[in-house]
Amino acid sequence: MSSPVLFTIFGASGDLAKRKLYPSLFRLYKAGHLAENFAVIGTARRPWTKEFFESTVIESLGKLPDNARQAHEFASHFYYQSHDVNDTDHYLALRNLQEELGKKYQTENNKVFFLSMAPEFFGTIAKHLKSEEIVDGTGFERLIIEKPFGTSLETAEKLNEELAQTFKEDQIYRIDHYLGKEMVQNIFAVRFANIIFENIWNRDFIDNVQISFAESIGVEDRGGYYDHSGALKDMIQNHALQVLSILAMDKPASFNECDVRAEKIKVFQNLKQQNDEEIKRNFVRGQYGSGNIDGQSYPAYLDEPNIAENSQTETFAGGVFFVETDRFRDVPFFFRTGKRLTEKGTRVTITFKKAEDIFGQHSEQNVLTIYIQPTEGFSLFINGKEVGSTFSLTPAKLSWRHSAAALGNSPEAYEKLFFDVLNGDSTNFSHWDEVKASWSLIDQIVRVWANNESPLHSYPAGSMGPQAIFDLLESYDTEWHWKPDIWYRERGLL
Ligand code: BG6
Repeated sequence: MSSPVLFTIFGASGDLAKRKLYPSLFRLYKAGHLAENFAVIGTARRPWTKEFFESTVIESLGKLPDNARQAHEFASHFYYQSHDVNDTDHYLALRNLQEELGKKYQTENNKVFFLSMAPEFFGTIAKHLKSEEIVDGTGFERLIIEKPFGTSLETAEKLNEELAQTFKEDQIYRIDHYLGKEMVQNIFAVRFANIIFENIWNRDFIDNVQISFAESIGVEDRGGYYDHSGALKDMIQNHALQVLSILAMDKPASFNECDVRAEKIKVFQNLKQQNDEEIKRNFVRGQYGSGNIDGQSYPAYLDEPNIAENSQTETFAGGVFFVETDRFRDVPFFFRTGKRLTEKGTRVTITFKKAEDIFGQHSEQNVLTIYIQPTEGFSLFINGKEVGSTFSLTPAKLSWRHSAAALGNSPEAYEKLFFDVLNGDSTNFSHWDEVKASWSLIDQIVRVWANNESPLHSYPAGSMGPQAIFDLLESYDTEWHWKPDIWYRERGLL
């Protein structure tokens, strides 16, 4: 099924547009979800021609097109309008172009706006979209915005009020690209389609949950943004808490957006607000120093481009959250994220409670791992009997990964999310209530850290973060299940 629609992308010359948006729109086009009745207006300050814009779009597609003709046909739907977000005349020009393309491509006045630029412009753009009647109440009108949704509860509320002048909550699609990832979606299947998990997914059987978002890259060329953000706001306020909410939610009455959201929001609203002493004890921040991985040396964060001298920004954040629901009260949800860690990997590990010893034999805890990326799949540790004439237990790993072929077909996160927007399905987007609850929690940690009440630990590039994050789990009588650093060390790579 294809939807008639006109996309307007603010920030069309940016990196995100080239890396993610154009290829994802193309994949939808190729799959038949965007047919002839669609057009894209790209705007940015630069004075590009339509021809140049088309060639930029084609270049961004890489090897995705089957042939040059297909790529050109797709790109012919793209139009460029040089735009200054503060200039009313530019919005009038945009409205004219919108009218013209709406007729040409018969888009039935359906409009999707994508704001892929610095959030300080969101309010201005939203205001003009209404005052210049680009948003005119005809057709469907949906707004997609990229994070960050503010930098604190206060700024997020301000941003939300600005957007609310033009768009209602059900027209706003706040992207969290992790929600579009195949294996994050798969958590619903694992939890609710398996009797062996569904019935034990609670505090009686689960000892702890571990969420790791490890990155091997440093800040690269994003120092200007990152140095004002840090790992807690960049990854935990959004991605980690979203994944946590899916892991911790109760089973929704149905899989429609209202029911799923209601359960997620319940988790967000039941996240324990920890006091200052608990925050000091339960949250760890770190910044990478220089280091070597596999013979290659990497600079310290402070020596990266566009980082303030003596910057106190954390490139690692870890800690423990608690969800005060009947299902999960007192179960630790450990999390860690960082730049320049040993390797790239997002995974969730569920450690079940210890079983009783059997026939005088000690059994290991069952552990379920959900591999979100770069490999996608599951593994489950169970206890088995060692081969031989005596009775000895040994852990066995049941493992399943997607085949390479399946991976090739798995939709890109943005493709899946665009598809949802076209269908008016906001299940996989962050609702304002979720954003609000997560900021009020994160603000507390930011405040304690800003007062320098917790140390900023240093960790070497290539490690899995500061020692304090290992000590934290030890204090809860457990340890990180995923230990890539040890694997590297054993092979002399670290
Ligand atoms: C983004 C962060 O939201 O997610 C980046 O701003 C981070 O700092 C990225 O690198 C990670 O996403 P992915 O999909 O590469 O794991």
